Amino acid sequence: MIDAKRHKNEHIKEDSHFLRGTIAEGLADVATGAISEDDAQLTKFHGTYLQDDRDLRPERAKKKLEKAYSFMIRVRVPGGLTTPKQWLALDAIAGTYANGTLRLTTRQAFQFHGVIKSNMKRTMQAINVCLLDTLAACGDVNRNVMSAANPYFSKAHAAAEDLAIQISERLLPQTSAYHEIWLDGQEVDANGKPVKKKAAKEEKEPIYGPTYLPRKFKTVIAVPPSNDVDIFAHDLGYIAIVEKGKVVGYNLTVGGGMGMTHGELETFPRTADMLGFCTPDQAVDIAEKIVTVQRDWGNRENRKRARLKYTIEDRGLDAFRAEVERRLGYKLGKPRPYHFSSTGDSIGWQQSADKKWHLTLFIENGRVKDKPGHALRTALREIAEFHSGAFVLTSNQNLVIANVTAKAKPKVDAALKKHGVRPSASSGLRRNSMACVALPTCGLALAESERFLPEVITALEDVLDQAGLKDDDIVIRMTGCPNGCARPYLAEIGLVGRNPGLYNLYLGAAFDGSRLNKLYAEDVDKARMIGLLEPMLKRYAKEREDGERFGDFVIRAGYVRPTTAGNQFHADVALLKQAS
Ligand code: HEM
Ligand code: SF4
Repeated sequence: MIDAKRHKNEHIKEDSHFLRGTIAEGLADVATGAISEDDAQLTKFHGTYLQDDRDLRPERAKKKLEKAYSFMIRVRVPGGLTTPKQWLALDAIAGTYANGTLRLTTRQAFQFHGVIKSNMKRTMQAINVCLLDTLAACGDVNRNVMSAANPYFSKAHAAAEDLAIQISERLLPQTSAYHEIWLDGQEVDANGKPVKKKAAKEEKEPIYGPTYLPRKFKTVIAVPPSNDVDIFAHDLGYIAIVEKGKVVGYNLTVGGGMGMTHGELETFPRTADMLGFCTPDQAVDIAEKIVTVQRDWGNRENRKRARLKYTIEDRGLDAFRAEVERRLGYKLGKPRPYHFSSTGDSIGWQQSADKKWHLTLFIENGRVKDKPGHALRTALREIAEFHSGAFVLTSNQNLVIANVTAKAKPKVDAALKKHGVRPSASSGLRRNSMACVALPTCGLALAESERFLPEVITALEDVLDQAGLKDDDIVIRMTGCPNGCARPYLAEIGLVGRNPGLYNLYLGAAFDGSRLNKLYAEDVDKARMIGLLEPMLKRYAKEREDGERFGDFVIRAGYVRPTTAGNQFHADVALLKQAS
């Protein structure tokens, strides 16, 4: 359909023959390390982004060389659940084809960085050999489905993981382009057996249609009291309602999202609304119906306003609910009471009712690599070689070594100690920190993030030490641009890159993830950041009420006003601008 108003990506999708485009031809072209611009939009659906090493740009430009292109590959891991065998396979891929590191993401997936074009097919095949894939890890589809960390912790956690897998499967694109391009048409089933190839005319997308969704779609499942998945940051969420240890249903949330553009007030982060309640057997079908309403109602002209959060903002929650119910043929129930306590992980060893042990390991910004005196990657590889349980990625870029027997527990501790890995962080602030990747790989980064936040925290740790707050849980998150991949607008202290070395400072989000923060200062460098935060932290230490969180204190103390949702986020900025 020719429609000049539709965004150009809509045409790219429609003309791609179900995500094929000319990706295969582009991969075979040895004259360049890149692929065409249109194909670069389509490869996202296959879980990979074309990037270049931005550190090397000036030098290569001087030598008139093309950019140092490589690909980021994201592995789809519903609920972040992998086996030790898979961990070993992914670790080997990181060493053979990527930059020697594994990145555990804020959405419970693995990322590889630095895979060059000529290694792409081999890498994809190696991922598929260990029965994982990258399909729909990026792109305008339902992405990796997240679930409360550690399915082995209780029956409710297991049910959440099970639902994450079911939703992920139901909403997976049906195109055989993925297998055709990366696996030479050889699709394997869950047992590793070859699956019969589809004829071209059988190709269709029953849920998505040929233009897929207007924009990405993110689904998560939480098990209270933990809000580790940051449920209010996502398009669709399920809050498990647990009675006598059993999940009796889920409260449904819709319309959360982080991304915005600096200076464009009609874009904003938004916390999700409560849509209703469903029983466990209704949950998967509801995900499908919600996705189809967004498919039909979402904005296909302006990608900056195309997420479900804007559909709900523009059409209203009641109209959205009515349409979902119409497609379901029944009404949703009333949300049930629930309580969240925090968005963080419980770092350290925990024991479940079945007497198994689980170690949640703090991994700074999710980067698994070996450093002198801290050989994390080697330690985890050694553990994977004897561990009989699971490796579970958390939504906070950490890792749970799950289902450890009492006998194996000292072996895990010994392997970590041998390689200089302490399970915890040096402070409560670091323990609750997250940074997105940003430079040098992310093409959208305006400032550093992963390479910078650790040193900001080190500087703040001196202040925390003086104030006696070293072990207090305070949530701090940084991103290199306003897209918000590390969910900075839900951090008690949020830092969002504006320009090299300069960040907007946001304050006052709720510790349980239910309230956004608010802009406090623009374009601050490191010295100003510390200069602004130091007196606040010291005052907090002295004046806080019993159990009062830093995010609540900065509001009570008058540093910022609370944000509820939607374009309220910018209300103070508008005032700020008017006044100046
Ligand atoms: C709205 C526009 C957004 C765009 C265009 C975008 C684009 C990107 C790109 C290019 C990367 C790769 C960076 C690298 O690894 O070098 C990335 C990473 C990532 N993004 Fe986004 N992103 C957006 C928003 C978000 C949001 C709102 C979330 C989550 C709430 C998110 C979650 C992630 C995750 C989990 C990663 C992996 C790295 C990490 O853990 O930091 N993204 N994104
Ligand atoms: S927040 Fe921005 S800089 Fe960071 S990974 Fe996402 S898109 Fe890149």
